[in-house]
Amino acid sequence: MTEGIDLAAAKSEFYHPSPRVVANAYAPDYLALREQAANDPVAFWDARAKELIDWYEPYTQVLDQSGAPFFKWFVGGKTNVVHNALDRHVQGWRKNKVALIWEAEDGEVRTYSYYDLWREVNQFANVLKGLGVAKGDTVTIYMGRVPELPIAMLATAKIGAIHSVVYGGFSEQALADRINDAQSRVVVTCDGAWLRGKTVNLKEITDEALTKAPVVEQVVVLKRTGQDVAWVEGRDHWWHDLTHDISAECPTEPMDAEDPLFILYTSGSTGKPKGQLHTCGGYQVHIATTLQYVFDLKEDDRYWCAADPGWITGHSYIVYGPLILGATSLMYEGAPGYPNPDRWWALVEKFGVTVLYTAPTAIRGFMRLGESWPDKHPMQSLRLLGSVGEPINPEAWRWYYTHVGKEQCPIMDTWWQTETGGFMITPTPVVPLKPGSGTLPFAGILADVVREDGSSADANEDGYLVIKHPWPGMTRTIWGDPDRFKQTYWADFAQQGWYFTGDSARRDEDGYFWIIGRMDDVIKVSGYRLGTAEIESALVSHPKVAEAAVIGVPDELRGNAIYAFCILRAGVEGNDALMNELKQHVRHEVGPIAVPQQLDFVATLPKTRSGKIMRRLLKAQVTGQPLGDTSTLEA
Ligand code: WT7
Repeated sequence: MTEGIDLAAAKSEFYHPSPRVVANAYAPDYLALREQAANDPVAFWDARAKELIDWYEPYTQVLDQSGAPFFKWFVGGKTNVVHNALDRHVQGWRKNKVALIWEAEDGEVRTYSYYDLWREVNQFANVLKGLGVAKGDTVTIYMGRVPELPIAMLATAKIGAIHSVVYGGFSEQALADRINDAQSRVVVTCDGAWLRGKTVNLKEITDEALTKAPVVEQVVVLKRTGQDVAWVEGRDHWWHDLTHDISAECPTEPMDAEDPLFILYTSGSTGKPKGQLHTCGGYQVHIATTLQYVFDLKEDDRYWCAADPGWITGHSYIVYGPLILGATSLMYEGAPGYPNPDRWWALVEKFGVTVLYTAPTAIRGFMRLGESWPDKHPMQSLRLLGSVGEPINPEAWRWYYTHVGKEQCPIMDTWWQTETGGFMITPTPVVPLKPGSGTLPFAGILADVVREDGSSADANEDGYLVIKHPWPGMTRTIWGDPDRFKQTYWADFAQQGWYFTGDSARRDEDGYFWIIGRMDDVIKVSGYRLGTAEIESALVSHPKVAEAAVIGVPDELRGNAIYAFCILRAGVEGNDALMNELKQHVRHEVGPIAVPQQLDFVATLPKTRSGKIMRRLLKAQVTGQPLGDTSTLEA
């Protein structure tokens, strides 16, 4: 038997952690702690808030449930995430510790100590102030994977403003919608971003978006690719001009625990993206606690979360979580497998990465390239692996475990959502694993699988995944739309006061959770979250399309692929040219991630008598499943 996980036992179901892993874990007694926390989650989070987070002024109440479902955590506490992420480290020995190592796609490396990062954040915070950004204002950030992205986020948070990061893969319409919804007067972007040796024209996309978002007054542009860009005098400013010769002294704004920290847009069942609002106090407590317990970060770790900072995974576990814990992180600019299929594995070895956190879709992509690529690299530094974004199929789990982790590294399969802020269902290194299961709700998280009437499902019975008790990292509302917040998450189990995740799941006879997938109109494509309505409204905004329906169908590489059905306007002929035109149109309206893989022209769509498209029936047709209940089908 190897020193790692007990493979013999795995055949009888569990992958047990080795005694060495248990002995070194941050919380060797985690399972007992979890039991305690289940009886008193508030006490658990209270203890963590005191252990991991500094407060300018202590809170007077841990949890205020009076305004449910608008819960408040750490009421009365004053804090700023940037104090915990940077200021306090700079005051102590971590001043010279490496906070961030960044490798560009072309191999350039930049290293930031905590002091370096603190200085750059202060300078950019002064830039934002100079542009008139004040506490409570929103700043939209639309950049590639460069260190200045976290710097811009931290600078915004430092002065008490609210960032809204829009993933660099979104198109101008999606960007314009998000800027308008957040009413940002300031946008931070790049001239371009590097991806697979080519450039993405971020500034050009921003310029187009701004024609639809007149609210924007100032644009800061980081020079990254050096490509030509159009320039609007008075509105556009180079990052390097504004930061040149500016003070690196900037006080950190004390924030109320419940003041907004950021907005992050997610897709849901209507076309309009939902701005999830996360706040200054509880969010910090949740992400610092989960990162500490699950990825077990030690001072000498080199941690690499390979996500994009533009998603919640990046916000919580690239930017804020690791910095709060004083960790050393790696960030890589480019695409996986570029220019060589073993780029990632070479990075792990070059920087001695100890903890690697990525997504099943990336792993399946690497599986396709063949195991010879990771097999060339011993990657002996690795001690823990992580997975997020969609269910990890057991084949991908075993491949990751064997070829990347060399049968030595437990895999932390973390289930959570943009809405939850941080991990909800996840193992820690001491929890025995089952490939494909996120194992158990984290300490202090009361999750259950229930039936429609709220009764708990039996072992191995599919049901609704609900959270029965508030948690500190929870989204507080949908920006500007509290009714929609209530309707979306709190209406299905309103009587019980539970949060409905939108996922279906089952719990096995050991109490382990298995996520089945979304129950709503959300499709996960390569871990990206897309709303059917978002893609449908993009399609029908084309003058030749009368109606559209979009479904997700199982796809070996991407988890799900987008399948679109279009009814064309009278007299329009459906041919290949139009099909390509419509795909281009979706790319333009939403972004490349939303382009349907398959697009059919149809004469009718199955609808209920009330006119709602029955996507379930389309899906059953495409996948050859039984149609199920069709009693509401329009005659
Ligand atoms: C949805 C949330 C949270 C970071 C990235 C995704 C699915 C997420 C897992 C997992 C099975 C997962 C769920 C969830 N999901 N992690 N480990 N196993 N499914 O955030 O884009 O808000 O999507 O992703 O369906 O509801 P998101």
